[in-house]
Amino acid sequence: MRSVVIMAGGSGKRLWPLSRRGTPKQLLPLLGEKSLLRVAFERVRSAVPDDRVFVCTGAEWADVVARELPELPSANILGEPVGRDSLNAVAWPAAVLAEQDPDAVVAMVTADHLIEPVESFRNALDRAFTVAETSPDALVTFGVVPTSAHTGYGYLHCGEPLEGAEDVFTVREFMEKPDAATAEGFLASGEHWWNSGMFVWRARTLLEQLEVLQPECHAIVTELARHPERIEELYPQLPRISVDYAVMEPVSRGEATARVLAVRLPISWHDVGGYASLLDRLERDVDGNAVRGLSVQVDGRNNLVINDHPDHLVATLGVSDMIIVATRTITLVCPLGESERVKELVAAVTDSD
Ligand code: GDD
Ligand code: MG
Repeated sequence: MRSVVIMAGGSGKRLWPLSRRGTPKQLLPLLGEKSLLRVAFERVRSAVPDDRVFVCTGAEWADVVARELPELPSANILGEPVGRDSLNAVAWPAAVLAEQDPDAVVAMVTADHLIEPVESFRNALDRAFTVAETSPDALVTFGVVPTSAHTGYGYLHCGEPLEGAEDVFTVREFMEKPDAATAEGFLASGEHWWNSGMFVWRARTLLEQLEVLQPECHAIVTELARHPERIEELYPQLPRISVDYAVMEPVSRGEATARVLAVRLPISWHDVGGYASLLDRLERDVDGNAVRGLSVQVDGRNNLVINDHPDHLVATLGVSDMIIVATRTITLVCPLGESERVKELVAAVTDSD
């Protein structure tokens, strides 16, 4: 049976102070009326019935997620007592689903990407499901043609098309977050795609890889699937590592039993990681400023101003290339070029909400 798991962990530190402990980035209506999570849910809805959509998220957000997605049975919200990175956000749901159905095929999707048009995404998702069903040894990724030598993404070195299929490719190597020089080489080669961060596989196939590559994780999630009441005790013992380093890279090098395949996403795909990428997606005025909320600007260009405070005016004069975010309790002022460093502030301040 097909299922979709939306990975909705991580607090979005680069979008502080909009994202806070109580309001992670996925639950924010960053672009428009709906939260990123709601948009992600609506994107996968037609691929599987609502009761086959799961969300893996921090236990402290389970109630908000349930309110945001009332269509989901409450058992479909998998709440982690502590975050243990993406390996476990894929491993635990795989173990739970394999326990219910040994032939479960699962799509792991993210809640923090903008993907358009939705119709093309659904076709690619459907294709990936079919590949995983017909090739039981496949870990299917979605490749995006790179437009820059971004060092925050994983790269797929594309091989031959799969026999009898023009739109599915073997992956010679999966490399997570290369250094700048390597990423430049990948971009120039024309043979590399960005890894979109979404995956489709048989739950059992993933678990078999874990048995070889991450036996500790395998043992714990298997036990958890049989004894969910032990979650508070067992989940914190899981190793903290991403699925890209723990599974995708070594599998692509032949260190386990599966192989990595890629379906191309021939669409617009954006990771809403921080303020710079958010600014790229927002409408701007004639001076290149993107403004949300009450704000006046004189002689300023290329600013992102977000004012979440209804009784407060943000006024700037002669200020350009800045990010200014005002919430009820916190104001952030930061040059646009430094926006990736906002997470350093999160570490430096004590959340006062
Ligand atoms: N539930 C849960 N718990 N989800 C988590 C956790 C966790 O502890 N940690 C991460 N996730 C989810 C995030 O919400 C996100 O949807 C996904 O796993 C990937 O985690 P990120 O931390 O955002 O990874 P990344 O952006 O550095 O890299 C990944 O995505 C890139 C594309 O945006 C990799 O897969 C890269 O290869 C890829 O290019
Ligand atoms: Mg990410």
